[in-house]
Amino acid sequence: MSLQRTLSILKPDVTRRNLTGKVNAKIEESGLHIVAQKRLFLTKEQAQQFYAVHAERAFFNDLCDSMCAGPIVAQVLEGENAVSHYRDIMGATNPANAAEGTIRRDFAESIEANSVHGSDSLENAQIETAFFFSQLELVG
Ligand code: CMP
Repeated sequence: MSLQRTLSILKPDVTRRNLTGKVNAKIEESGLHIVAQKRLFLTKEQAQQFYAVHAERAFFNDLCDSMCAGPIVAQVLEGENAVSHYRDIMGATNPANAAEGTIRRDFAESIEANSVHGSDSLENAQIETAFFFSQLELVG
């Protein structure tokens, strides 16, 4: 077991439907702590930069548009094995395949508007956290 931090995004489909509190409750009930959080708009350029790893994929443009359709909530989650723990409670990328009780099963609208993003490795968690948060905002 190791104490980790991971980067989470509540996507525009969550803020549009006023579900931030409900998603946060599921995160906290799972034992993860929200140690940093901010609500912001991404520009198209910022969304393209954040998702650059998917730049060649057919869904890239639609994904970036959907991330700019409204405010997002970027957050840092802390807990034991936070990276894999969060991915477990998010559920499968496609909500149609997401397990019962997961965030995406309960809330997601589609594969793009799938409510949440979570880093897929500890290395990417650090890179993605630095995209949104300065050291000053990451309190002990
Ligand atoms: P996320 O965890 O934010 O990481 C990349 C996103 O791309 C993913 O969630 C989905 O929203 C989106 N995505 C992944 N695969 C597909 C796909 N086959 N079609 C459309 N969108 C996808």
